Amino acid sequence: AREPLVLGIETSCDETGIGIVRGRTLLSNTIASSMDEHARYGGVVPEVAARAHLEALQPAIDAALAEAGVSLADLDAIAVTSGPGLAGALMVGVGAAKALAVALDKPLYAVNHLVGHIAADILRPIGDSAPETDAAPVEYPTVALLVSGGHTSLLLVRDLTSDVEMLGETMDDAAGEAFDKIARILGLPYPGGPEIDRAAASGDPRAIPFPRGLSRASDMAAHRYDFSFSGLKTAVARWVEQREAAGEEVPVADVAASFREAVVDVLVTKALAACRDHGVPRLLLGGGVIANRRLREVALERAAEAGVAVRIPPLSLCTDNGAMIAALAAELIRSGRPASTLEFGADSTLPV
Ligand code: KG4
Ligand code: ZN
Repeated sequence: AREPLVLGIETSCDETGIGIVRGRTLLSNTIASSMDEHARYGGVVPEVAARAHLEALQPAIDAALAEAGVSLADLDAIAVTSGPGLAGALMVGVGAAKALAVALDKPLYAVNHLVGHIAADILRPIGDSAPETDAAPVEYPTVALLVSGGHTSLLLVRDLTSDVEMLGETMDDAAGEAFDKIARILGLPYPGGPEIDRAAASGDPRAIPFPRGLSRASDMAAHRYDFSFSGLKTAVARWVEQREAAGEEVPVADVAASFREAVVDVLVTKALAACRDHGVPRLLLGGGVIANRRLREVALERAAEAGVAVRIPPLSLCTDNGAMIAALAAELIRSGRPASTLEFGADSTLPV
């Protein structure tokens, strides 16, 4: 049978993502971001994001169809992120997806955003049946570490369509959010991740011993796979304030490098602990923070020592996008899952 042609809609945060796949083949991946509009607030403003989705959706759908060379009538199914994410932003995508599904009389699949990030890994570019760069097919079980401006989660994936377990997540800020807040403290622009990465390049990661959240033995019992970045943020803010109060110059490169090292260390340590505890020699990385050079470097280095194989999808599929949502729906169709009924809504805290 021919693989299903699926259009995926992603609006859980500030990216309006429309992707089209045929089975595991990526046909188009269109992304419109409202990031610039949030820049002066130093973080994503939910209401602004929702309005931006409303304006960006139709052009993004048209662009994705044109890029894939298909029409709406060709589609076999529509997929949409129903959560977790910003409620108002999610609602725009869910509303659009329902309207499309009803108008076209096509099945509609409501999917989980985090599981979508995991599904990004199965996509192959068109005409790339045997990718040389990544010959090994996806294998499960795998541990997945998803880090972005909206989430920081550690998951155990035994089966993409039927068995994904949340091992732990952040108790406060997401890792990307922490990067954005520290950048602000250091006077660097939004989004802060790339700025900190750049500033850290010439700094000493061991200059300042910033705290590793939830890593003490006493925390590890109840929060072995959970993360916390608020204590780190406070520690950095206090360190910088003390320097300024003393009339000393703030060594931005060293602060950035030491902060980045603290985040990376805790992310990689906990991800590899999950691999070891569950006897799973595979780690999948996803989310916009994976753009961080030091994170990729440390993850690859320490995973190799631990005998864990690391998979990192292309960055365009790591950041929020519609293709991963379509890919997950295509897998659900392949596994025989019936379509969603139209009763579902947007669920900002949807569990995996
Ligand atoms: O997945 P993503 O594009 O979207 C949302 O979460 O909405 O992730 C964006 C986040 C931002 O917080 C940004 O500062 C962070 O990812 N980020 C980085 C880097 N590039 C982007 N964080 C650390 N290092 C980077 N190089
Ligand atoms: Zn995401």
